[in-house]
Amino acid sequence: MSAPKLEAIFGAPLVCNQYDLADALRRENEARILREDSGLDSDEEDVELEDPVEVPLHAPPLPAPLASSTTSALTGLAKKNHKKRERQRTKRRESTVAAMNSPTPPVPAPHVLEKAAASTSINVAYSANSFRATKQCWVGPTKPFEHPLLAHAADAEFLKQHMPYFDWDGIESHVLVDCHGRSIGLLVGVPEMFADVIEAASDACRAAREKMLFPASAYIHRRASGPGFPTSTRGFGFGTGRQTVGNYKACSRTNEAAMGELLANDAVNRAATFPIPAFQAVCWNIFSDYHATKQTLLNQNPGLHRTFERSPFAAVTANLGPFSVSPPHTDGANKADGMCLITALGRFNADKGAHLVLWDYNFIIRFPAGCSAFIPSAVVTHSNTPIADDEERFSLVQYSAGALLRWVDNGFKSDLTWMASATPADLARREENRKARCAAALKKFSLWKDVKVKNFSGRGRVEVWDQGDIADFNDLTEEEDSDVEEPPRKKRRM
Ligand SMILES: [Fe+2]
Repeated sequence: MSAPKLEAIFGAPLVCNQYDLADALRRENEARILREDSGLDSDEEDVELEDPVEVPLHAPPLPAPLASSTTSALTGLAKKNHKKRERQRTKRRESTVAAMNSPTPPVPAPHVLEKAAASTSINVAYSANSFRATKQCWVGPTKPFEHPLLAHAADAEFLKQHMPYFDWDGIESHVLVDCHGRSIGLLVGVPEMFADVIEAASDACRAAREKMLFPASAYIHRRASGPGFPTSTRGFGFGTGRQTVGNYKACSRTNEAAMGELLANDAVNRAATFPIPAFQAVCWNIFSDYHATKQTLLNQNPGLHRTFERSPFAAVTANLGPFSVSPPHTDGANKADGMCLITALGRFNADKGAHLVLWDYNFIIRFPAGCSAFIPSAVVTHSNTPIADDEERFSLVQYSAGALLRWVDNGFKSDLTWMASATPADLARREENRKARCAAALKKFSLWKDVKVKNFSGRGRVEVWDQGDIADFNDLTEEEDSDVEEPPRKKRRM
């Protein structure tokens, strides 16, 4: 189309000689806060919700365990022991799934607490006091990027030279700890014997993308850099103008079926849920919020789509590559005082690319395929460094929208509906609740010293001391609400 025709259609072009990105983002942020304070939906969501579901749907069946290729080759005692181990594994799996379906958040198993306590901490020169949320403290703001190295976001070698770099082996697990001792990130490594699972999960992502159909525009979005990548989402959320919680909408029935197949894949399931127990142990308060919300909503509306049975997150987005690399961004629609789970898959040289950069923490991390990271993605700017042209990277991102927890807190209503019938007394109570929620937000992040003594809930340390773990009386929490020491409650095994 020639220029005169365009002008005839759209009018004379507006010429902008100056554009201040920081100022534009600041204004967008203020508008976002205003929208939330007015009870309007966020426009952060990149995906649509389906129409409300009337007919309860059945949850997808549990994926079948990987077929064992070794059983037939075994004889005698070895075969018997193998069968016994398989039975035990099935039993553990069933009891874990039952616990994850209970409205009460399941406590971490003792061996999980041991493992979390044995992980090592990485001190980050950052204070979680700097996290910023909207006034209502449900979601994160869009904030200006202020890091001086942002222009080098695609240059891994430059960033490694100018930022603290963690050369993660991808096997050990580590907790990122802020200067006040709060656990503000978690890196979950995988054993080397997991390599087959990672390869199978990566193959499943590739196969899913090949089955799905996407318009060219699906590759370009604000979380994509370079040639971009399409995504597919399953699960449920709230927002995008809907008046109730609903399922995220697939592009087409073909894509929906391929996504269902991907999530039912055993290797994908294992790669995506392997890090969950560590999350339970290190981020108990956040885990239990997510678990209770997900189960409450699923029990209320069985038509909502499930993701992974063992996951507390309401939704999962598969970044289907082959170039799943994101520029610096925040996921402001996620819960502000929460975490999302990123699991990297694919085949790439982790020494050269696909690093995880946490800009607020001024920290760059080697992030190999199969590994997982929990980060407060609503409030921490994050990105990946690029991979080579002949490499491929996929990722699974699990999260719960902050609006979902707000919906539950409102008594299963939107802010607008709640406001429509609120009395002055209701409004006063709401403001008190808001203040309490903001005051409690930082306490959602467990203290590393509690994780070290397997005190996953952060309960009074006298109780931990009573169990024979390391603690002293100077270590008492401020929250200790009783002078009477009680014997510790027996923990239920998962
Ligand atoms: Fe993100």
